[in-house]
Amino acid sequence: MNSTAFTFMIITVTTIILVTGYFFIRVLFSKSTTQNANGQTWTRIGLVLAMAGNAVGFGNFLRFPVQAIQNGGGAFIIPYLVCFLLMGIPLLFVEWSIGRHGGKYNNHSTPFMLANLDKRSIWKYVGVFGLFSNIGIAAYYCYMESWTLAYVFHSAIGTFRGLSQSEVGNVFSNYIDMNTTTLIPYEAIVFYVLCLALNIYILSKGIKGIEKVSKIAMPLLILFGLFLAIKAVTLKVGQPGVITDGTTGLNFLWTPQYDSIWSPKVWLAAAGQIFFTLSVGMGSIQCYASFVHSNDDIALNSMSAGWMNEFVEVVLGAALIIPISVGYLGIDKVRELAELGGLAIGFKILPYLLNQWAPLIATIAGIMWFSLLFFAGITSSLAMGKPCVSFMEDEFKWSEKKSALGFGILILILGLPTVFFFNYGVFDQYDYWTGTVSLFIFSLLEIILFSWVFGIRNGWEELNRGGDITIPRVYKYILKYITPVLLIMVFLGALINPADNNWAAAFQSLFSGNGWTFDNGSIIKMITNASLKEKLALATDDETRDFLKRSIFLINGAKILLLSVFAGIALLVYIASQRRKKEDREC
Ligand code: PHE
Repeated sequence: MNSTAFTFMIITVTTIILVTGYFFIRVLFSKSTTQNANGQTWTRIGLVLAMAGNAVGFGNFLRFPVQAIQNGGGAFIIPYLVCFLLMGIPLLFVEWSIGRHGGKYNNHSTPFMLANLDKRSIWKYVGVFGLFSNIGIAAYYCYMESWTLAYVFHSAIGTFRGLSQSEVGNVFSNYIDMNTTTLIPYEAIVFYVLCLALNIYILSKGIKGIEKVSKIAMPLLILFGLFLAIKAVTLKVGQPGVITDGTTGLNFLWTPQYDSIWSPKVWLAAAGQIFFTLSVGMGSIQCYASFVHSNDDIALNSMSAGWMNEFVEVVLGAALIIPISVGYLGIDKVRELAELGGLAIGFKILPYLLNQWAPLIATIAGIMWFSLLFFAGITSSLAMGKPCVSFMEDEFKWSEKKSALGFGILILILGLPTVFFFNYGVFDQYDYWTGTVSLFIFSLLEIILFSWVFGIRNGWEELNRGGDITIPRVYKYILKYITPVLLIMVFLGALINPADNNWAAAFQSLFSGNGWTFDNGSIIKMITNASLKEKLALATDDETRDFLKRSIFLINGAKILLLSVFAGIALLVYIASQRRKKEDREC
């Protein structure tokens, strides 16, 4: 590694390890239970591990590395860390506070939690985002989760052994293609249903169930991650198939490039990654936090869980697929592959690369890699389910079992289009609208509510009550001014992102009277499927045209479906609030 990269990496990684370790040790040695008003209890370790499990997900192992590669490696990491400090941490504070505050009034999902902060009824409907994102994300996330389960199985029985890289790729393509025969008929569906059943079962056990799973999954995940990371970074030229040392990938990631500070595209990507990985703007942190007693610490707990996520992402996540794939394939090839996304690298390439190792170790590494992903996935999907389960319990007095089952069935129905029409881009649409846009909107509105409407004085008091650490006062100002302004910038950036991400050219064109040219990835153009329409106009053969037409049709269908989900939740919130009013009158 070159010395700048090495120094930068060592400083960042050591800081993250020390801070994470410090917070976690303090948690270990503090008062150990936290009981909510309605009697559901987290143990403190359980709470922190469940919250860390909520955050640690596919985002850490698949999304982060790919974002880093696509945004220039060392160019990405500085904006990423700045976004963590100025948006991630403040939003964690806000969401833990809103959650614990809502729990005091026996509210465990965002619609009525937000209503606890301000009486105007609009906030209840803003809170709909906090259920919508979870449902929308879970619909495609659980499908991915089921792939990891299937791949643990396939690694164990040696499906990938002796296959060429393209054959390993085909295993995956066949797996998700419903028209090809696989080992088990409709294998993808079988594992999907199995995975949902597992989620339903755990959710029906309430906080206790989630806690138990997190206590097993998180330590194993870290253990497997460490093992694979060590194997990855110690790859050496000369070992069969290895073309560059494992450290080459690290070099790429950790050589800082300061000019990226001026690239809005990189900032948008960094902010988006911070949101997704910390699970902020989704409503799931608020839900877990609502089971904390209103006088028990949230300052230390939130930092402990948040930093643990950064440890898993920046230390482990960075040291797995990048060094391994760069080691075997070289940086240019990996850049090309990154265009296909993290899923392709994780499921099509990695099983092949791991099978370059001696048979026994290859099998173990394969099982470890996919169980690590499975653990990361399930602790996150439970966090998506819990707010929905709690909403039905709180408002419609459904039992935990019935609510969990309801959630599972809803996800199955909403997830099936992503299963059957994966190749048409339906999966990506779900990810874009619920896993990106909706998070921006919700966090922006939520922090305005917290810092400005509820007021930072009240907010700061709420956040620090019972705190086991003193949060630096500068965060009071960050919460009030910096984070909201950054969020507005991020949202506008995503909304009107100019063609080729070239802001200078776009402004020039605007001022010379030629208007603004939007990028096909901007929210505005995504609404109208501009990129597909462009492709359709250029397509020459009938087959491509048919495919694109069908794609547009299905994607519009997916959008309508998601909109109806949003409207449906809003309707439930409306009914619930009418019921509450009636109950109040009767009292
Ligand atoms: N943070 C999770 C990840 O990195 C994703 C997630 C989304 C978790 C929504 C909970 C709720 O993959």
